[in-house]
Amino acid sequence: MHVRYIEIAGGKPLRGRITIQGSKNAVLPILTSCLLGEGICQIDNCPRISDVTVTLRLLEAAGCKVIQEGRTVWIDTSDVCRSRIPSEEASHIRSSVLFLGALIGRCRQASLPMPGGCAIGIRPVDLHMKALTALGVRFEGEDDLTADGNMLHGADIHFSYPSVGATENSILAAVLAPGRTRITGAAREPEIMELCRFLRLRGADIRNDGQGTIVIDGVSSLKPAYYRMQADRIVTGTYLIAAAAAGGDVQIANFPTYGLELPLQILKETGARIEQKEESCRVISSQSPKAIPYLETAPYPGFPTDLQSPMLALLAGAEGVSCVRETIFENRFRVVSELRKMGADIEVQGDRVIIKGKEKLTGSQVDTPDLRGGAALVTAGLCASGLTRIGQIEYIERGYEDICRDLRMLGGDLVVAEGQ
Ligand code: EPZ
Repeated sequence: MHVRYIEIAGGKPLRGRITIQGSKNAVLPILTSCLLGEGICQIDNCPRISDVTVTLRLLEAAGCKVIQEGRTVWIDTSDVCRSRIPSEEASHIRSSVLFLGALIGRCRQASLPMPGGCAIGIRPVDLHMKALTALGVRFEGEDDLTADGNMLHGADIHFSYPSVGATENSILAAVLAPGRTRITGAAREPEIMELCRFLRLRGADIRNDGQGTIVIDGVSSLKPAYYRMQADRIVTGTYLIAAAAAGGDVQIANFPTYGLELPLQILKETGARIEQKEESCRVISSQSPKAIPYLETAPYPGFPTDLQSPMLALLAGAEGVSCVRETIFENRFRVVSELRKMGADIEVQGDRVIIKGKEKLTGSQVDTPDLRGGAALVTAGLCASGLTRIGQIEYIERGYEDICRDLRMLGGDLVVAEGQ
């Protein structure tokens, strides 16, 4: 059977300048939100990743016409006619759950499969359902997400936990709901600010203070709009961490305006030098980063859980002992067993790992456990001595357009190869 894998010859520093792809976690809700209104929306700088491909297929399943040319996507939602999303497609990605809010906003009804769990956790949708129920949505049955939104109305919603997806679903359902919706305890991620910006461009009446409070006054319809995606904050953070880990001098040309404050601070604590100008950011690092005694992930503006695995790869080669605590997902240390195959001295203790940094990791054959774990293995392979071969790379391609192309542009020695 043909398998594809990434092969990395490690030990070289990264040098050069790179432009970052558009944001996955902003484009997925923005593409889905095109359902909220008729006409043709044009999205530029849309990343060419498999999660986008699946989302475009789901939009077509709802009756949209979709054209994709390179990084530009046109979505014509004039003839949306189906509010039932086929399960074989929707179960591929978690963000399909956002079709709930968008279809309820557009059609006042929705039916999609209960999104499964995934490698990093069970990922329930109770907060989504509680928020939509407050907006007058009635759920029918238990085995899937079939909802009636004919009584949709503005309401007060308070989140006991700042769930990114549940906040986005509430926004999608509320922008066309009659009356005022006031969301408190909302997630504050930059990707949600970008969704609100796109919706305002289309005529939504939505104010997001960025501190967890969002006020929406429902409007009767949204007009289509043109929008250019901002750079992906997590892909940017991944490459900054890789540069700090492998050593070198890397410039990010289109550095996202905000959202990486704490990761930059942490990289400085590992000894990297960071130079930020208006649109760009430069990281200069020796090849032996310092350990971080304690780091924990948290909702924005805390340290992003999506950069936790890449940080493990950096700390595995750092001088000293580090502790990293994962507070968001219950199973996001699956990459640890693969890093140990490369010689990392890393031990899971409940919701945290203890990492005793080592001079050098050793290239090895490893498998990608999940999207960001795969990015961590690429980072570890760049730092390790010898050859690393990473299997199951389709997980990485869910969120990175072409991680080999990007890192080769910085002098990394990596290729995608095929074999038995
Ligand atoms: C989004 O997932 C991102 N995905 C994730 O990125 C990211 O890790 C996560 O936010 C946290 O920042 C997209 O934007 C497509 P949550 P989401 O709802 O919305 C629990 C990546 O690598 N929870 O904030 O699913 C949940 O189980 C991906 O790009 C409930 O208990 O995240 C988790 O423990 C991975 N009930 C925590 O909250 C609910 O109803 C955070 O989940 C919803 C969530």
